[in-house]
This record gives sequence, C-alpha cells and structure tokens, in this order.
Amino acid sequence: MPQAVAITRAVSPALGACELTHVARVPIDVELARAQHRAYEQALIDAGYRVERLDTGPDMPDSVFVEDIAVVFDELAIITRPGAESRRRETPAVAEALAAYRPLHVIQPPGTVDGGDVLVAGRRVFVGRSSRTNDPAIAQMRQLLGPRGYTVCDTEVRGCLHLKSAATALDDDLLLVNRDWIDRAAFGGFTLVDVDPEEPAAANALRLADRIMVSASFPRTADCLRRRGLQLAIVEASEVAKAEGAVTCCSLIVGHSR
Ligand code: GLY
Repeated sequence: MPQAVAITRAVSPALGACELTHVARVPIDVELARAQHRAYEQALIDAGYRVERLDTGPDMPDSVFVEDIAVVFDELAIITRPGAESRRRETPAVAEALAAYRPLHVIQPPGTVDGGDVLVAGRRVFVGRSSRTNDPAIAQMRQLLGPRGYTVCDTEVRGCLHLKSAATALDDDLLLVNRDWIDRAAFGGFTLVDVDPEEPAAANALRLADRIMVSASFPRTADCLRRRGLQLAIVEASEVAKAEGAVTCCSLIVGHSR
C-alpha cells in the first residue's frame, strides 16, 4: 500500500490576526506556534505519514488550519468554500496539492462549509450547521456523497466554532464528545466517550492509522482514552488553541484505509 500522506500548511506570520468566533483574542507566540507545528508534523511522521507542507503568507492568518479547506474521502476530495471570506484565498494551493491524489469537487456558491464541520466515521458523514457551514453546502455534499455510498447527516453546532470542536471519531463507531455542544440524537448507534468535565475543548482528537493524537492541554481526557486501551500521541497545541484551532485542524490525511 502506498504511504499515507498528511498535508499541512506553514504557520502564517499573521496568525495573531486570525478569525475568532468563540475565543477571546490573546497574544499568540508565532515562533512557539511554529515549533509546536514542527513537533506536530514529527508526530505524524512517527505515525507513518509522509508530511507535505504547503507554504503560506501574511495574507492568510488561518492557513495552518488546512483541514477547513478540504474533506478527503477514498474516492474524491471536496474543496470547501470556507464560511469566512478571509479564508477563501487558502483554497487554490490546497486544491493543487490534493489534485495529485484525488478527483476534486468544489463547493459552489451560495454554499459555504469549513472542513472542521465535517465529521467522517466510516460511511457516515456528519455535517455541522454553524456560522461557517450552511444548508446549500450540505445539500451539495449529500448529492455528491450519497451515490458513493455515504450517508450525510446534518446536525446543529452550538457553543463552539465547528462540529469537530465538539465531536471527533476515535473509531468508526466510537466518538469523543462534549455532550453540551452536540445534539446527541444525531449520533444514535455510536458509543460516546465524554471529555473530562474540566476539559470542555478536549473533544478534538485526530484519528490516525494506529493511534489517536490529542493535545497535551487535556491530560484528564487523555487518561480516559488510555484506560480504554487507545494508543495516544500527545502534542503541544497551546498556540493554535488561542487561534481557535486544535489537532484535527492542522492536517489533511490522505490515504490510510480505515
Ligand atoms: N481561527 C480559526 C478560524 O476561525 O477559522
């Protein structure tokens, strides 16, 4: 099997001017963010991925959050139309990189969707309706993915930026969640693992082929996952958290079969 790829994007010198929705603006140490990002990429390499890092610039404060720009499936990749207008200039380079691996489908206006609102668990795709993601985009995704054997479920996002701030997949039937931020009824049939009550932002974990990547900021939730027998990769993510990002946001995983 070809080596799986993780597409990442460099930390912009303008990260401190990022979009913020639910998080108060505080100073971000861009050099520390870069060091943490390098360690994040090394953790991906250690997990068996080839990292392909795209360039950035001062006109793209949020570019490190490459997840929002595409959603990658085995059969195709969807290039999003990000809900924040400032982020739409991030799409060409991501599309160019992904075109080497997948046929591309591009979300059309008036649709808007951020990849952070799209949670894939096996053949089930949950799309969070949020300040970034709207019904026309959800309809386009349903039309694209339905004939390919995926079930697309829309659900509400509340209290946080993206659906994957509130829920991520640990396995095809196992989700890590903050129940206060999801509509539980949407996730019938899944086993739900709760974040520690003192770590409401801990539901964002990155599922890799043989391990789960979690932020070092959430040790109690990490202990809970370890007790379930999951292998973890712990990374420092304090600076991207100040930019309202987390571990899934910083890569697009292409190519490991689940
Ligand atoms: N700062 C992450 C975003 O708002 O897109």
